[in-house]
Amino acid sequence: MGHQIKTIGLLTSGGDAPGMNAAVRSVTRAAIYHEIKVKAIMRGYKGLIAGEVREFTTQDVSNIIQRGGTILKTARCKEFETAEGRAQAYETIEREHIDALVVIGGNGTFTGGLALSQEFDIPVIGLPATIDNDLWGTDATIGFDTAMNTIMDCVDKIKDTASSHERIFFVEVMGRDAGFLALNAAIAAGAEAAIIPERRTREQQLDAYIGNGIRKSKNSSIVLVSESPETGGAQAMADRLKKQHPEYDVRVSILGHLQRGGSPTASDRILASRLGVAAIEALHEEQRCVMVGIKNDEVVYVPLSQAIGRHKDVKQDKVKALQILSI
Ligand code: F6P
Repeated sequence: MGHQIKTIGLLTSGGDAPGMNAAVRSVTRAAIYHEIKVKAIMRGYKGLIAGEVREFTTQDVSNIIQRGGTILKTARCKEFETAEGRAQAYETIEREHIDALVVIGGNGTFTGGLALSQEFDIPVIGLPATIDNDLWGTDATIGFDTAMNTIMDCVDKIKDTASSHERIFFVEVMGRDAGFLALNAAIAAGAEAAIIPERRTREQQLDAYIGNGIRKSKNSSIVLVSESPETGGAQAMADRLKKQHPEYDVRVSILGHLQRGGSPTASDRILASRLGVAAIEALHEEQRCVMVGIKNDEVVYVPLSQAIGRHKDVKQDKVKALQILSI
């Protein structure tokens, strides 16, 4: 039992994700239940450096489980990537008598948390929250299910225009370097293809889609494309197709940040609630530098270094299912 943990610091960092508030509520209530004080840190690591800290009560997290975004605010903090920045952050930790940090976020959040933990020997527990679902060791990250449902709803609507005008739509979705959103939403929305970073080149994937006979049995078509600032994403794919097939009526739709907003799904709220409780239990069990995740419906502890260092691959049967079902 981690009896030395009397106070935790709690922050959200990186891109916001639906369900972060449910996680903030869960960590706060579970900590207070176990008689641990919660110091809420505003604006992620930026606020930790600046000393933007205040104690939270259970009332501070009332009525937020259904809200998107994060009441703690968030930021991407370049300063925290430096040793000086982290030293300043540690001054706040000492001043506020914080014994452990609970950080809610994705890759960048965990990278910063790991460095801080190693440099100052402080326990850091991570809750995976990113719409990208790109953390190893957990079946899902908080926010992924909501974003996937948002994309599905958008594609359902785009399909009305696609079929009425007999058009081909390239719909660009987020995911950074991961294709989980594109692939899963493509299956859920009954799209014809998904162009994702995990498989061959984007051009090869496009050529395979064209090679399958775009208009074999359908007059309209939807292709989900993972964002890619380097290769141009959906627009580049559309331009390439138009060049080869000027006879097709092709359109591009970039969904952008609407994918990050909105009320979390039941699945994300439940995930966030379980992981918040698990984070406090991890501290009780004297875990020091882990992500709490879910594998096969069981809570697991994954070293932060593995969560960010190992590659989580898309499921091959999903790639196959999408291909078979798009005939
Ligand atoms: O990591 C979440 C994410 O939404 C990515 O999918 C996307 O590439 C990135 O954040 C966008 O970040 P920002 O909102 O800072 O532009």
